[in-house]
Amino acid sequence: MAVCVATTPASWFSLLLLAACYSLCSCVHADGKNVKSLFVFGDSYADTGNRDPLDESLNIFWKKPYGSTWPGHPTGRASNGRVFTDFFAAHIGVKTPPAYRVVQDEVKMHPKLRHLRSSIAGGVNFAYAGSGIFPTFGPKIPTISAQIDQFRAILRERSVCISDSSTALLVVAGNDYTIYGLSPKNESLANFTGRVVSGIIDSLKALHKLGFNKLAVTNLEPFGCFPAATAPSNYRICNETSTQESRLHNKLLASRIRGLKPILPKADITILDLDRAFSHALQGYFKHSRYQWKSCCQQKENGQCGAVDAKGNALYSVCPDPNEAFFWDTVHPTDSGWNSVAKILFS
Ligand SMILES: *[C@@H]1O[C@H](CO)[C@@H](O)[C@H](O)[C@H]1NC(C)=O
Ligand SMILES: *[C@@H]1O[C@H](CO)[C@@H](O)[C@H](O)[C@H]1NC(C)=O
Ligand SMILES: *[C@@H]1O[C@H](CO)[C@@H](O)[C@H](O)[C@H]1NC(C)=O
Repeated sequence: MAVCVATTPASWFSLLLLAACYSLCSCVHADGKNVKSLFVFGDSYADTGNRDPLDESLNIFWKKPYGSTWPGHPTGRASNGRVFTDFFAAHIGVKTPPAYRVVQDEVKMHPKLRHLRSSIAGGVNFAYAGSGIFPTFGPKIPTISAQIDQFRAILRERSVCISDSSTALLVVAGNDYTIYGLSPKNESLANFTGRVVSGIIDSLKALHKLGFNKLAVTNLEPFGCFPAATAPSNYRICNETSTQESRLHNKLLASRIRGLKPILPKADITILDLDRAFSHALQGYFKHSRYQWKSCCQQKENGQCGAVDAKGNALYSVCPDPNEAFFWDTVHPTDSGWNSVAKILFS
């Protein structure tokens, strides 16, 4: 069953559009089958270029050496190549959906509804690096609920079809916890975790209400295996204390999602277990790599991956073969890191 939403300023015209929905809407192929689509919400693990490349306060992932392995230049992805969205899209058999920023630019250039419909029929990626359930690194970074509002606006103003062949992917990798770690503690971690998980549950409910029956949501990767957490042991072991924090979130998320099933009987919610996949990839495929626990793109003093000084000298160094490393920078996997995570999740 396909739900089509098409509105224009003239209400008689929108009624006409609704009446003729099946022939006009891009959600149904000529053969009567629904068009598969993927709509993505989340953070840097999922963002494929939503940050403004011209905004110096936001464009670090638009700088070299990001994108150096694939496609050979920066694309706004926080990796040397592809990110989780690319692998997830391939897994469900769709193209990586365009970034919302690109869709907005296209609307400005071609304001015709028909053009927009064809460009977003396969979905849109709203994920924005740095995002979280709560506000994180400043007002320019839309929260997950702000991203869902952007989607709601597309539904309301334009023509998008959500059907049983549509999937919503929600990727929340932990920016909220970074902010929590940096802030004065006015509440316990357990309580804060409860609020983050509630935010994820509310987002899933909102997406289901907007028409998605197929929903996929990530849990948290093991925080104690990030390069900064393994460095004190000379890159030998993950910090279990730190990993317990992400696992507390994961346990609560799993239990709250089980609780959703009776309330939302039509919702098919998959948890994408990044905890297991990161752990297995790090201890498996990357076990014998010199870069098992280390970032490939290492910051130099006062620098970061992608940063240069006033003379243009790199404030970072890059390992000889990025495919050997699981982590590209301090928190983001390499293309080959995501590839092995995807193999573990989807095989
Ligand atoms: C703790 O502080 C944050 C940010 O200042 C605020 O959003 C949150 O509601 C506070 N929590 C409690 C329990 O007061
Ligand atoms: C604990 O979390 C709940 C929501 O889950 C919130 O309403 C409450 O303010 C929090 N309390 C404290 C003391 O942090
Ligand atoms: C492990 O992480 C915890 C919490 O993040 C921190 O307090 C502790 O110092 C870390 N241990 C080591 C050996 O780095």
